[in-house]
Amino acid sequence: METIKHIRSEEDAIKLMNIALEHEWAVSFEYLFHAYSFPKGKFFYRDPVLKRKQDVRAQTIQIGIDEMYHSLQLGIIITKMGGTPSFETDEVFRYPRIIDNLERDKKTEDLVTNLYQSAEFEEGAFPKIRNMVLNISYDEVRHSDQFSAMMDAMRAEGAEDALCYQSSPDSAQKQEVQLLHGIMQAENKIMHRYLKFVILFAEHQDLSQRLYKNAIDHMRNWDKNSGILIKMGDVIRIENAERDTDGIERSVNPMPSAYPGEDRLSALESLVPAEKSLVAQYEKLLSLVPDGEIRNQLEIHRGLDLEHVFTQEWLLENARKIKGLA
Ligand SMILES: [Fe+2]
Ligand SMILES: [Fe+2]
Ligand SMILES: [Fe+2]
Repeated sequence: METIKHIRSEEDAIKLMNIALEHEWAVSFEYLFHAYSFPKGKFFYRDPVLKRKQDVRAQTIQIGIDEMYHSLQLGIIITKMGGTPSFETDEVFRYPRIIDNLERDKKTEDLVTNLYQSAEFEEGAFPKIRNMVLNISYDEVRHSDQFSAMMDAMRAEGAEDALCYQSSPDSAQKQEVQLLHGIMQAENKIMHRYLKFVILFAEHQDLSQRLYKNAIDHMRNWDKNSGILIKMGDVIRIENAERDTDGIERSVNPMPSAYPGEDRLSALESLVPAEKSLVAQYEKLLSLVPDGEIRNQLEIHRGLDLEHVFTQEWLLENARKIKGLA
């Protein structure tokens, strides 16, 4: 992660926010890669603020969602100031042991807390940005404490060596597993495409909120699909990851660094074919899955995407009808 200490100009402020944004994007899915590789309802910790026992996996997902909100906030302010929000991301890792992932997550929290808290703003300059940066930094302090508490709890019960789900070579070769990996990748990409436009059209709340709703649907599908993969004997894949001899995976480009669509029409035009292609991927997978719980869940995801096709076609049609809609 780059750093920037002295914030004097608008350019400096945008630079600080874009450095932070690349971090926030990365952790927003790195934590999910981790959580989706952890068993559900198996490891618990006592949350220092909630003052109750919480599931390690569920809270790690919740922290990932907080990071997505940080990304959105930063992206919206960068755009408002005339900058371009970055979709590049910092590198992500996955370790075989659960606790090593939590350790990594705590370290990245402390790193970004330092980025936010050590930025020195010229007296009186950008008070709202300064305030936002401080507010976000205390979410990071909270996250760091949560990851610490999770590790303490795992050590206390002697679970240091508990492993993440591993991909089994037999399962990974199955056609339905391969198709589901493709769908997961597409779901994550389309979610970020929607988020790009949520940022781009933030001043048009009607459009922005509609696009945001679809982004969240895709996030939920991603979440459910990760559970289906485990039932199929595999685990979420990190795109473009290389695995070293210790089994540590590292990816410097886990997600695309750019998405098509720069204005209202080109944005809306790009979403319809993306939705249709995702529906087609679900159709293909459904043709291989017998009746039962998994099929039912996959049909729900396909249904949501069919609804998105309907909505997006009308958003596009309606935008074309109105002259003067920039
Ligand atoms: Fe964050
Ligand atoms: Fe955080
Ligand atoms: Fe969709």
